[in-house]
Order: sequence, then C-alpha cells, then structure tokens
Amino acid sequence: MAANILDWTDSWYERLDSESHCDSAASIAARFSGEVAEGKLPFCSMPFMASLLHDLDGLEDYVKSFDHMLLLGIGGSALGARALQKAFFPQQDQPGHEGPWLWIADNVCAKTLDAYLQKLPLEKTLVAVVSKSGGTIETISQYFLVRDKLKQDLGDNWNRNLLFVTDKEKGFLREQADEFSVRTLEVPDFLGGRYSVLSAVGLLPAMFMGVDYRSLVEGASAVLSPLASPNLNGDLLSRHPAFKMACWASGLMGEGYNELIFFSYIPQWACFGQWFAQLWAESLGKEGKGSQPLPAIGATDQHSVNQMFLDGPRNKGCLFLTCPSLPEGAPFSDDIPDNFAYLKGKSFGELIHAEGLGTKMALAANKVPLVEMQMGDDSEEAAGRLMGLLMAATIFTGWLIEINPIDQPAVEMGKLLAKARLGADGLEKEKESLNSFLNTKREEQEF
Ligand code: PA5
Repeated sequence: MAANILDWTDSWYERLDSESHCDSAASIAARFSGEVAEGKLPFCSMPFMASLLHDLDGLEDYVKSFDHMLLLGIGGSALGARALQKAFFPQQDQPGHEGPWLWIADNVCAKTLDAYLQKLPLEKTLVAVVSKSGGTIETISQYFLVRDKLKQDLGDNWNRNLLFVTDKEKGFLREQADEFSVRTLEVPDFLGGRYSVLSAVGLLPAMFMGVDYRSLVEGASAVLSPLASPNLNGDLLSRHPAFKMACWASGLMGEGYNELIFFSYIPQWACFGQWFAQLWAESLGKEGKGSQPLPAIGATDQHSVNQMFLDGPRNKGCLFLTCPSLPEGAPFSDDIPDNFAYLKGKSFGELIHAEGLGTKMALAANKVPLVEMQMGDDSEEAAGRLMGLLMAATIFTGWLIEINPIDQPAVEMGKLLAKARLGADGLEKEKESLNSFLNTKREEQEF
C-alpha cells in the first residue's frame, strides 16, 4: 500500500510563520489529553467503537434485507453518509444498477419527499432517522410524514421499518423509540454531528451500501490514535500532520487569507469537499474569525470557479487532494486527429493527473499557498485517514485561533425565527422581531 503524503512545498509554511504556533504545542497537547481523558473528544478516542461494531454485526442481516434505505437527517447527520456514498457506492449513479439504493433526504423539499413517499416501496425500505438531538425540525418533520405513510402501508408493523440513530437518553426521537419500540443505534455523548461520520451516523448507511466501514475506522484510527494516547506531549504533537495543518491554516488566517479551497482531483471523492466545508465552517466561523471553505472539483471546476481562485482576490489557501494511483481507464486508439495526437498511446485516466498537476502549478504560480494531500490509494482505509486528519486539524485550528470548534451558536437565531414564524409556543422576543421585520416597508423592484 502506497503511503499518504502531505506535500508542503508550495504551502508557504515558513513564510506564514506557522512554526511559531509550535510554541503552544505543549499546552495544546496537555489540553487535548485532558479532554480525551474526560471523554470529550470521542471522534478521536472512539471509546464507543467496539460496542458499535458489535451492534452493526448484529443488525447486518436485518439492514441488508431491505432494497432501499431512506435516510432522514441534515448537516453532520447526512453529509458524511453522502460523501461515503459518492466515493464508495458510485454504482447507484451509474447505468445498470439494480440495488440496493440509498436515498438521503437532507432538505425541506416537498417535491423530493413526495417522490420518495409515492415511489419508494415502503415494505422494502428501511427508514433511518438520524439526529443526535432528536429534535431537528427538518428531519423530524420528514419523519412525521414518512411515519404516516408507513402506518398506512404497513399497518401494525410500521415500526419494523424504522431505525433511529440518536442520543442514548435525550430527545424526541429517543422518546418515540421507547414508546413505539423502534430499533436504535446511539450517537455518543460529546460527538457533534460534523465529527460523527465514523459513528453509527455514517457507518450504518456505509454498512447498508456494502462499504468496508471497518477499514474506514482503521484508517482514521491510524491517524488519531497517537493523539488519543496518554503519552501525547508537545514534541509528538508538533510532529503530527493534523497539528501542522492547523498551524498552517491559522497562520493563513492571521495573514488575512479568509478563504480555503478544498480542491478534489479524486473525482469520486468530490463530496468529501462538502463534508469538509461543513466541518470547517461550522467549527471555525466564530467571533469574526475563521476561513470560508470553498469545495471545488477537478477537473470540472477548472471551467467554473478556478478563474477566481487564480486571479481574483489573493485571499485563498488551498487543500489540494490527489491520488496518483487512480485507475488508468480506457486507452485512446490511433483514430485521433493530428491536433489531439498527444493523446495517442495514453489512457483517459492520465488526463486527470496532468490537469491536476497543471492546476496545482498554476495556483502556486498565482500565489495561492497550497498543501497537497496525496492519497496512496482511493480505498476506504485512505478515506478514513483523510477524515481523521481533517477532523483533528479542525479542532487544533479552533484552539489556535481561540474559539470553540465544537459548538455552533450563531445558527440558532435563524432556527428560532423559523419556529416563531410557524407559531411555536413562547419565543416572544423572536415574534417581536419577526413583526418588526415583516412590517418594514420593503425596497422592491420587479424584473
Ligand atoms: O454538525 C452539527 O452539529 C450540525 O450540523 C448537526 O449535525 C445538524 O444540525 C443536525 O443535528 P442533529 O443531528 O441533532 O439533527
């Protein structure tokens, strides 16, 4: 197995004075070890894993007896599953697929939900409702509608086709599970949505798709276990790639680089960009700090947003994802006109490497500090390593810029206003601001 490499050559690591953060490595290592010991960083120490793997084994026959899984969840309860689906279950989007099928309902889209309700054979569908809090309105509102349809189609057995992934004690879903004897898997304490892909949240859909989820866990564990070790100290931490990435990222922020591109030249891994964007943005966008993640797909976005990356404001750093061992693909024949003759004797797969190299060099030449994340292969084990690296780097970056990377207080305001708009009890302050907002004369223009 080829090694996974971080290539720092074009990162400006020294120029950004990233190394100065290493002074704080000892105190950050002590804080990290303390929080691991208190069980506050379960994404890293994974104390729940043995029992989860055991539970998944026990559920496998049941879960795989269904043709469809309809996953109701949003944010961290959906993005990891989608990244795994696109990376390791591409056949669902390809001609000739005959099942199984995973459908991820992570929005409030009446048309999409109607299509699921009307067209999915519910007797052959496992509805996985994924919500750590058990009360997220986008997820629970879909649950109510799906539950009605399950009752209608399956009668007294409606609860048989439900599985909840939620908190072990608290929340509305847990109450529903207790009341109606619905199967459940737990989201452990202190495991926030965006750090939960390697819990039941991501591993249940992975198992349904036949993804090698044990290798995902092994990969992540290879990167994270040195951090979870009680022997962690400043010296070890300063040599860990996740800490170095955090030093680089916070160094960039300190110099006014307020955007961070995640450019994937592994096409089927493009959705890891969406997963990373949520992880980074929700964790680090606090108190006027952070950098806006910009997921981009090679080669597609060379013909879209790349012009802005190259010649727009010089405020962007870049994480550049590659894998030199991707399949070579179909070879070109000799039936190629002279102006494309350079393709003769090559294969289609060589194109993505050449384009990736060209884009990487162009970004570097245009003063975009860039770290290449070069994967040894595109296996589940490698993806686990990547996710482990990025989750740990996000925590360290948050600590280096002195914000809390675990919460997301700013997103509450919009949620409360939406509830007030729908007439939820209480929320007097929100109702007052709604009235004043809605009574303000709008400056409108027809087009
Ligand atoms: O990362 C997070 O914590 C959030 O994006 C949550 O995943 C999202 O809000 C959904 O929350 P829940 O799983 O409680 O339904």
